[in-house]
Amino acid sequence: MTIENATSSMTSQAQNSSANPIAIFDSGVGGLSIAQCISQHLPNENLLYVADTLHAPYGEQSPEFIQQRLNEVALWFIEHKAKAIVVACNTATVNAIDQLREKISIPVIGVEPAIKPAASLSKNKKIAILVTKATAENPRFLGLVAQYSNNSEVTIQPCPGLVELIELIEQDKKNSVECKLLLSNYLMPLIAKGVDTIVLGCTHYPLVSDLINDICGDSVTIMETARPVTEQLQRQLALHQLLNSSNKDGTTTFYSSKHSPEQQALFSHIWQLPLTLKSYP
Ligand code: DGL
Repeated sequence: MTIENATSSMTSQAQNSSANPIAIFDSGVGGLSIAQCISQHLPNENLLYVADTLHAPYGEQSPEFIQQRLNEVALWFIEHKAKAIVVACNTATVNAIDQLREKISIPVIGVEPAIKPAASLSKNKKIAILVTKATAENPRFLGLVAQYSNNSEVTIQPCPGLVELIELIEQDKKNSVECKLLLSNYLMPLIAKGVDTIVLGCTHYPLVSDLINDICGDSVTIMETARPVTEQLQRQLALHQLLNSSNKDGTTTFYSSKHSPEQQALFSHIWQLPLTLKSYP
């Protein structure tokens, strides 16, 4: 079945009901930073989380590859009756969300870096955005920076190697030391330049916000996007009359394309609850 057929059959059978799950997608565990916020603010919604860890990091992949992966997972979500899809990955949002929205009719919510609020908050008018390589090179992302920088000087800082370390961070304390060293390499030049506001433009980076705060100190504001994404999801669900009115707590089901005991331990550590990780597909 193609993605277009799947979505039209779903719509024609009026299957998109408010009890259906919200699908959340990332290349790995980064999207859990968004899923946590959704679960906290919409506690009666059922969530379906897919990490495409087998193909991560997306930051090193081509736009065509990322589009193909997102479409494949979106088709699976639709087959699993998702009522909306949250692309909880900045790299997949800028590289693949527009073409997905053209193909399917359920709401698709993406992650946009908080450039506009950062530019209005910065006293020095110097902000930085930490992103993956595939985001840094993306014309849609560069357009957003130009549109919302509001006369602030914006430094786009790609962070190669960081997503890979974050995917391993809970397995070994040594990775946390390595992660802090790599972050220092990326952050110290920004601080020396007078940057006072840093936007986390990859959903993996909030998972190391403690390390980022340690390096930057209190004078630098760190901005992330989990809350605005959750609010946008809530607005879209309300608009399509898809908010779950059940008064029961929702469930969250986790899948990874690279299923292993280590992955399950990593998911449980970040989610702060024991959980069963299932194999995608
Ligand atoms: N969490 C993804 C993002 O927000 C990470 C991309 C990657 O896998 O490199 O961009």
